[in-house]
Amino acid sequence: MHVYIEDIAKHVGSPVTIKGWLANRRSSGKIHFLQVRDGSGFIQAVMSKAQVGDETFDVASHLSQESAIIVHGAARADSRAPGGCELDITGLELVSAATDFPITPKAHGVDFLMDRRHLWIRSQRQQAVLRIRHEVIDAVRDYFNNLGFVLADTPIFTPSACEGTTTLFPVQYFDDATAYLTQSGQLYNEANAMALGRVYCFGPTFRAEKSKTRRHLTEFWMVEPEVAYANLEDIIELAQGLVVSVIERVLEKKQRELKVLERDTAKLERIAKPFARITYDDAVTLLKSKGLPFEWGGDFGSPDETALSEHFDGPVAVTGYPSEIKAFYFKPMDGRPEVSLSVDILAPEGYGEIIGGGQRLEDLDVLLQRIKDHNLPQEAFEWYLDLRRFGSVPHAGFGMGIERVVSWICGLDHLREAIPYPRMLYRMYP
Ligand code: 4AD
Ligand code: MG
Repeated sequence: MHVYIEDIAKHVGSPVTIKGWLANRRSSGKIHFLQVRDGSGFIQAVMSKAQVGDETFDVASHLSQESAIIVHGAARADSRAPGGCELDITGLELVSAATDFPITPKAHGVDFLMDRRHLWIRSQRQQAVLRIRHEVIDAVRDYFNNLGFVLADTPIFTPSACEGTTTLFPVQYFDDATAYLTQSGQLYNEANAMALGRVYCFGPTFRAEKSKTRRHLTEFWMVEPEVAYANLEDIIELAQGLVVSVIERVLEKKQRELKVLERDTAKLERIAKPFARITYDDAVTLLKSKGLPFEWGGDFGSPDETALSEHFDGPVAVTGYPSEIKAFYFKPMDGRPEVSLSVDILAPEGYGEIIGGGQRLEDLDVLLQRIKDHNLPQEAFEWYLDLRRFGSVPHAGFGMGIERVVSWICGLDHLREAIPYPRMLYRMYP
């Protein structure tokens, strides 16, 4: 019977078939140790000449890495094996041979691996990351669905900027129009929230950021909830709940993968609500006291975020960023319009911002002024302004970058490993 490696422990003693690929092989005289993978996991399969006969044993002697094989055998419980089982091989079929698979068990440079990303994802480590990514996404959807949010998709081709005009990717849209790849679904999300109350969108977003940092992709996935009749505090609560439930879920379901990644899970187990809180004003004072050259009005760079998150030794919610450095749609604080009702949540261990959001400006006249101040074309925003003309209410929301979260949970050095095919300033291949 065909079984997946992840389920093999349920089939101990009975004959099973595994359909997969050869990840690695060691041989010693009359025994081959084949490390077989099938996408669901890896297992050590032991082949003895006495059991399979000369012909099959000889085929296995010449099997090269990543050859596609079907293996028949019996699962045997082995407490030392990562999946709890090994396989005693009774038969083997070669489906197709692979010659000179370029990614061998030896160490390779990052550029070499990135050029072969389509093959690199077969490695145990990369599979572990992608499986955790899957779990993160699944947990995000469950979190919002269980709270009663409605998934309402927002467009990718958009006529105007959401987060600022400097990081837009233009696309020729038929003969005489330019579309821009969306930077965020937020503006449409706000319209959806006025229709459906509590909504989220979840899709790819694009930023033409010329920054070559370990935290920036030009294409990344973002989940964005938006809630009518909510304020800044409400969405900070919502955001904390989201982060905690995603972490709990990965800890519950992805121990095997976290082990492959050698992640120190104690650091994740400590994550609990409520998160540390600090205002932007106090953060500036704190950074200065740590000797960082930071002035009120600036945006935090990576070293600043790292210093803040290290100080709190856990996630921290920073509120009240200067209105100047935030997008046009933020509501200013009552009595202190230079401060916006904004929040960023910074992950610990130097991972920096994972969530950004805040309360939206619901007043038509102030919003019109902000659109002018930001030199945005009012015509393009007429539909958005309608939300303030027809039953405007306080509302708030945020966006969480999936790759940032995956990178943090997996303990990665760079966002490029947190998505199957990363898009960056200098990389669009494969
Ligand atoms: O802080 P940002 O720019 O917020 C927005 O786009 C809001 N419109 C969201 C909202 O309120 N609905 O981006 C949100 C998150 C960041 O906290 C970060 O996790 C991620 O998106 N992010 C990136 N991830 C990877 N590469 C980039 N270049 C990113 N830029 C932002
Ligand atoms: Mg941000």
